[in-house]
Amino acid sequence: MKSFFVTGTDTGIGKTVVTCALADALRSSGVDVGVMKPFATGVPQKDGFKSEDVKLLAQYSSVDDPESLINPYFFPIPTSPYGAAKKLCKTIDVDLVLSSYEKLQANHDVVLVEGIGGILTPILKDYFVADLIKDLNLDALLVVGTKMGSVNHTLLAMNLCKKYGIHISGLIINQTDSDGYDLQDLEEDLVSLSGIDVICKIPLLQNVDIKAVSQILQKDSVLSKL
Ligand SMILES: Nc1ncnc2c1ncn2[C@@H]1O[C@H](COP(=O)(O)OP(=O)(O)O)[C@@H](O)[C@H]1O
Ligand SMILES: [Mg+2]
Repeated sequence: MKSFFVTGTDTGIGKTVVTCALADALRSSGVDVGVMKPFATGVPQKDGFKSEDVKLLAQYSSVDDPESLINPYFFPIPTSPYGAAKKLCKTIDVDLVLSSYEKLQANHDVVLVEGIGGILTPILKDYFVADLIKDLNLDALLVVGTKMGSVNHTLLAMNLCKKYGIHISGLIINQTDSDGYDLQDLEEDLVSLSGIDVICKIPLLQNVDIKAVSQILQKDSVLSKL
């Protein structure tokens, strides 16, 4: 399997859960998987990794790469990298992210890169998550939520990827709320409107257990579809 960039239609849509579960499924099938979260923002954790996402990614991939490679930029403000860097008067050097990725790629068979927010989350004034995906030369997996408006959000993200020349290898529908689209209806609509395959559907879970999500991915043969 090749490396992927996991992006989504929104923040809080399940990118971390899906990336961790994919890492777990890959590890279970004997693949040496690396993980990366180039930009993380939010409340810093008290011990271990600063970012909760990075902690989970490292846990389920079992990597022991340094935090500085997995997560070159952490800003303790829950906003976009662009907004946080501006507020904190910090500069962002995209070359540092690209060289960190190269090192991880050299150390592992596959690297899963989790984005931040959605496809147009700003990193610099004229540089968005989509630009980063292009510069990393990765295909994308798009995590799609199920709340009303998800078809619109998915088609917007797909159109943007088409404009940038980013290949979407598959959609993963993740049900994060109870009163949105029916999973089957959403799959049918997205496939007929976009022509891109839905490679997995994850139902709303009472307790989010990454191992259980990993089992769902394996049951749906997700690894063989990538
Ligand atoms: N299928 C699901 N069912 C219930 N809760 C979920 C599901 N997927 C994700 N969540 C929860 O939704 C929240 C956001 O998920 P997360 O993976 O952190 O999103 P993102 O990385 O896109 O911001 C987390 O609290 C997570 O545990
Ligand atoms: Mg996340």
